[in-house]
Amino acid sequence: MADETKPPAPGAPAPPVASSAPPAAPAAAPPAKPAAAAPAVNLAGKTTTAAAGAAKVSTRDPDDTSPLVSRRAWLAMAWGAFTAASAAALAATGRFMFPNVLNEPPQQFKVGLPSDFGLGVDERYKESNGVWIVRTNDDLVQRASGFYVLNTTCTHLGCTPNYLAAELKFKCPCHGSGFRTTGINFEGPAPRPLERNRIVLAEDGQILIDKSRKFQYELGQWIDPEAFLRI
Ligand code: FES
Repeated sequence: MADETKPPAPGAPAPPVASSAPPAAPAAAPPAKPAAAAPAVNLAGKTTTAAAGAAKVSTRDPDDTSPLVSRRAWLAMAWGAFTAASAAALAATGRFMFPNVLNEPPQQFKVGLPSDFGLGVDERYKESNGVWIVRTNDDLVQRASGFYVLNTTCTHLGCTPNYLAAELKFKCPCHGSGFRTTGINFEGPAPRPLERNRIVLAEDGQILIDKSRKFQYELGQWIDPEAFLRI
């Protein structure tokens, strides 16, 4: 082994100079670090990372099967609710624009010529117009031959009596009130006679009835010229 403390012989090549510096690092590049996850912004406006998200997800109860509602799903539900409310409001508006129509019979109507009627009670306009048309040779009040109109509303509580031709009377099915063909009450709880309505001849010769005008016997109104049509 050569003595390193001896000086080198003349002409000999100089030995390499030992250096106190540490050896240089190898030229090879250090191993690449895993790419950092891109930060994301959650719904609350906080910045988070996929790792943090994964940590959050991992905290869910494994038995929890409820779906996570995304922002898009929330928007879809909100739009759906808004559309349904708008449709309901539109339907209500349409219903308001087309209200139920109550088809009541007219208060004034013609029933034909006097010659179309025989003596007695005519029931042809009971159902459609709520009146009986009566032809008589001698009216109770007017003491003349002609026509009068009886309203079919019972003066007790408003039921519609039936005409019993064999007994020449009107009989109310509700509480048993009875009325003569003149309209005078004679049995049951009805407190007063049936009402009469206006009856006149129209220009074309037909009988015209006007239910908007009524005549009450107990008030002395059956004597009115338009409460009886003289023929
Ligand atoms: Fe006609 Fe009562 S309603 S008797």
